Amino acid sequence: MQEIKFIKAQTLKEKPDESTLGFGKYFTDYMFTMDYTEGEGWHSPTICPYGAVAYEPSLMVYHYGQTIFEGLKAYKNTQGKPVMFRPMENLMRLNRSAERVCIPQIDVDFVLYALKKLVALEKDWIPTSDGTSLYIRPFIMATDAALGVHPSHTYRLYIILSPVGRYYKEGLKPVKIYVSDKYVRAFEGGLGAAKTAANYAASLYGAEEAQKKGYTQVLWLDGKHHKYVEEVGTMNIMFKIGDTVVTPALDRGSILPGITRKSAIQVIRDMGYKVEEREITIDEVYEAFDKGLLTDVFGTGTAAVISPVGILTWGDRTIDICNGEITPFTKELYDRITNIQLGIDEDKFSWIEPVEE
Ligand code: COI
Repeated sequence: MQEIKFIKAQTLKEKPDESTLGFGKYFTDYMFTMDYTEGEGWHSPTICPYGAVAYEPSLMVYHYGQTIFEGLKAYKNTQGKPVMFRPMENLMRLNRSAERVCIPQIDVDFVLYALKKLVALEKDWIPTSDGTSLYIRPFIMATDAALGVHPSHTYRLYIILSPVGRYYKEGLKPVKIYVSDKYVRAFEGGLGAAKTAANYAASLYGAEEAQKKGYTQVLWLDGKHHKYVEEVGTMNIMFKIGDTVVTPALDRGSILPGITRKSAIQVIRDMGYKVEEREITIDEVYEAFDKGLLTDVFGTGTAAVISPVGILTWGDRTIDICNGEITPFTKELYDRITNIQLGIDEDKFSWIEPVEE
């Protein structure tokens, strides 16, 4: 293992009141950084004070968006010990995203080791009130100061930490979702399966329009036919139709392979329900509603955890799935996942990674 350099902060920040956290507004005292230079590989791993960094305006990432990120969470379990939820899954996905945008691979074992050191150092920042956690944001960006369009020769990896509350202001109340048949987030053959900034930039305009109409988020349809359901952008989507949960399959490569999605599929099967990963059209969703079979719609994501969807609007049709209240099935799924994360229930799928030995 490379040695991690430590640069001590002169002063430590006051921690925010847990009732005012929101999402991604506060950052802890320290961050982790590591640099990549062509011919040399990844080097100079450092834990240093979180703060502003000066770069030249020609920095490649500013112009061409060669950057990728991850999102995962740390919790304090019922014994007060810091733990993380499936961190290796995130680091492996970071490498898959890296490949798609020509960023060099990281050594996932070393980065996990560094991440544990960082979270252990910052464990007092892990909030413990209901619905809170320490959100971990690893990202890698191109750092050549040059304007030619080609992969950068140098990169920087950061890991920053943010104590967070629930992602949506609605909390566990169902959110309102607008189905966009005008704009698309991703295309087959495009970047949709990679966690890269461009996908989020692509979602902003449609999301702003939806928000002006009073919706929380957009449900994106496929780019070619505008009829197959894809994802929400900040979360994957699932529909419970009768006793089967249906979620869009990942094979088109235009949907983010969510780690909460993957975990939810396992938990739902463990609850005794069927899960189908397949193509699902927006027509089928509305038909299921008309037949009285659509009992639950919910999103899955690291930030969103399990988030019920109450209202769905597509063209001139608005449907109300659960009368403004989380349904028993969605609540049970939420509880089962969060109880594993918090150590209330047994970690029967081996998803929990202790931060300290
Ligand atoms: C996450 O759930 O971690 C995400 O990355 C979604 C969003 C906050 C960008």
